[in-house]
Amino acid sequence: MRAAQIASLDGPSAISVVDVPEPTGADGEVLVDVHVAGVTFPEVLLSRGQYQLKPQLPFVPGSEVAGTVRSAPEGSGLRPGQRVAAFPGFGGFAEAVAVDPGLVFPLPDGLSLEQGAALPMNYLTMHFALARRGRLQPGETVLVHGAAGGLGTAGVQLAKAYGARVLAVVSGEAKGEAARAAGADEVVLADGFLQRVRELTGGRGVDVVADPVGGDRFTDSLRSLAREGRLLVLGFTGGEIPTVRVNRLLLNNVSVVGVGWGAFWSGEPGYVQEQWRDLAPLLERGALQPVLGSVHDLADAAAAVTELDERRATGKVLIRVR
Ligand SMILES: NC(=O)c1ccc[n+]([C@@H]2O[C@H](COP(=O)([O-])OP(=O)(O)OC[C@H]3O[C@@H](n4cnc5c(N)ncnc54)[C@H](OP(=O)(O)O)[C@@H]3O)[C@@H](O)[C@H]2O)c1
Repeated sequence: MRAAQIASLDGPSAISVVDVPEPTGADGEVLVDVHVAGVTFPEVLLSRGQYQLKPQLPFVPGSEVAGTVRSAPEGSGLRPGQRVAAFPGFGGFAEAVAVDPGLVFPLPDGLSLEQGAALPMNYLTMHFALARRGRLQPGETVLVHGAAGGLGTAGVQLAKAYGARVLAVVSGEAKGEAARAAGADEVVLADGFLQRVRELTGGRGVDVVADPVGGDRFTDSLRSLAREGRLLVLGFTGGEIPTVRVNRLLLNNVSVVGVGWGAFWSGEPGYVQEQWRDLAPLLERGALQPVLGSVHDLADAAAAVTELDERRATGKVLIRVR
């Protein structure tokens, strides 16, 4: 079968499409015929050996897909032909992928396969971040950094679905459109965001900051928090891993909260399916509709990952496999 492969750690442009053996799904896995794969920032990092996981070369990246079940083990509750989203972790940029049944999710009828491929990584991470780690309550105000990106648009939508007011931080007006399409109440430019957040909250600040960007905006994110606010640390697309002077935490009674979705569920069997059951009603009633960006063919997988690397992505970048 055809698959996009990382064979050297020379960045996204070195990703190439090759023939590899098909997976069999023989080890109690679900074999999924991939229609669409979602592109996530970890693929940028993996292509340079900068991700926390360092698979042996060569390997097929692709953490999330949507497609149809080719075969499923007895007792999985899944049947051939069924439309699913799935989180294989690796191997998704390919015509077929074998996935642990605990990481395969039936797709509601109202969602396209494109939307399905945008769900697993970002919506499950943001569900964990906002609901569990951030203890978000209806009526609270949430600031989302990188709000036009994959994780960011998911965060905006979920926070809205939970009844929050959402301020979306983006680097430019064009990206503001994607954040608004996700449902943001206000769009704020990253440059000078603290002042604008203070104006928009009457000086009070926000209850939760969801931050996949990090870098030099971190201290201003802390300053953006209202009393007992929570800053959710999700990632570092901005490059630098920030440090925090902990006196800032006691001065305003605020918390910095780490969010590592993969690290959490890998030690908690069944948690991800529990999360999907929480999201299913929101998906079924259309409250979560991923904001889609560009769609690339599998042959152009390198270009798809490069789009995230060069900070050009607005909405979810996808790879169409068939
Ligand atoms: N903690 C977890 O469990 C978890 C799970 C999934 C993903 N993540 C992490 O979350 C982060 C976001 O992933 P994603 O898939 O949403 O990526 P994405 O779609 O590329 O979005 C990332 C956003 O970061 C902002 N950004 C700021 N500086 C950047 C730079 N130098 N290069 C690229 N983007 C930059 C961009 O927004 P502006 O241009 O508007 O600033 C961009 O929209 C990654 O670090 C990823 O590893 C963490």
